[in-house]
Amino acid sequence: MKKVFVKSYGCQMNVYDAERMADVLAAEGYSETAAMEEADLVILNTCHIREKAAEKVYSELGRVRSLKEERAGHGQETRVVVAGCVAQAEGREILRRAPVVDVVVGPQSYHHLPELLRKAQTERVVDTEFPVEDKFDHLPQPSRQKTLSRGVSAFLTIQEGCDKFCTFCVVPYTRGAEVSRPVARILDEAARLADAGVRELTLIGQNVNAYHGEGPDGRVWSLGRLLRRLAEVPGIARLRYTTSHPRDMDDELVAAHGDLAALMPYLHLPVQSGSDRILDAMNRKHTGDEYRRLIERIRRARPDIALSSDFIVGFPGETDADFEETMRLVAEVGFASSFSFKYSPRPGTPAAELEAQIPEPVKAERLARLQNLLETQRQAFNRGTVGQTLDVLVEKPGRHPGQLAGKSPYLQAVHFESDAHRIGDIVTVRIARAGSNSLFGERVGPKDRAAA
Ligand code: 5AD
Ligand code: SF4
Repeated sequence: MKKVFVKSYGCQMNVYDAERMADVLAAEGYSETAAMEEADLVILNTCHIREKAAEKVYSELGRVRSLKEERAGHGQETRVVVAGCVAQAEGREILRRAPVVDVVVGPQSYHHLPELLRKAQTERVVDTEFPVEDKFDHLPQPSRQKTLSRGVSAFLTIQEGCDKFCTFCVVPYTRGAEVSRPVARILDEAARLADAGVRELTLIGQNVNAYHGEGPDGRVWSLGRLLRRLAEVPGIARLRYTTSHPRDMDDELVAAHGDLAALMPYLHLPVQSGSDRILDAMNRKHTGDEYRRLIERIRRARPDIALSSDFIVGFPGETDADFEETMRLVAEVGFASSFSFKYSPRPGTPAAELEAQIPEPVKAERLARLQNLLETQRQAFNRGTVGQTLDVLVEKPGRHPGQLAGKSPYLQAVHFESDAHRIGDIVTVRIARAGSNSLFGERVGPKDRAAA
């Protein structure tokens, strides 16, 4: 049997796409391997969001080249595919820079992989079309066993692309316009995942709360409505969604946070900056106060909700005073976890053309200060759960025999002792101690058993 190795960079959408690529290739007789050295086919599923992410691809391709040469010495052929957003953005340029690459395929056309690999036997190929057909209609279903091997918490793509055009972001160019999958398809996929033993679904999309898919009733359904329906799928105990835009948090979605027990009290809602001037230059179309008021509304619906955000420091033109506004917003809102980045100019985006680029040392200093504050908040949030009783979805065995590891509703890793539980169970755990990256607790009782 031929073997395929897929390495994914970047966001959860790429993790999902990598699994679907493995499914396409399983139908062609490839089994997955975690060891690149033994792969007949190497796929790098790339990320273009920041310069560093994109450059990683070329350094990895250097390693792939040595490997290919070594395998060739043993008479083994290795074929190389670059997929994902760097493939979409750079296309043919990748073939020029990296002679080791056989196929370049974008995120909307990876269902063509079998055909592209056949073509690549005679010539190197690039497919970065946004085909008229829906790739989801052409993707084979993984086996029940395969699905379960991927864990009790699964990603489900419900929406792709973005029409927001934040001035720093490549996503609208690499992933294209917003497209929502029809409700019926999503429900089918959810039922299939649940049937294989999945307990938690994370709905994903570049702009997931802009979801507006066709419902079974022929009407357009919002994310709030879709979540209500998914909460009824037997076996599914937990729902999450990511990543959202503040402008798309409509009343129905906010209400769902109050009404749906399955919807976990954790929300990733990127704000990027606390300065109105910078938010405007970023084309975010909301102010810092509008974000604060939105958070108040969400907290009224679900008082214990934990918040997470993305931040960019050193956006062109960002002054010390603008940066202080970001620090003030963070201090006022309080985040349980966050991602923060130095602004990275991306070719083809409006902000990359701005003159007032910020010097690297200023960016570095601001990032260090912001990350310090965010880390303090994260630790404080984790310590705040000590003494509480939390439901933990068991995901895997713990580090030591008799230990299990899982996630709290707030997406914290929790370790506890138990030999009476299985992966997929939801167990009530009293949190005894907070480590730097996970919580440790004692089992109080079973809550909800996984189906046998
Ligand atoms: N520079 C730095 N960070 C960026 N992000 C997106 N584009 C850039 C860029 N050009 C960050 C944003 C976004 C997250 C996924 O990546 O914070 O929310
Ligand atoms: Fe990029 Fe903005 Fe769209 Fe998010 S909302 S994917 S940051 S353009």
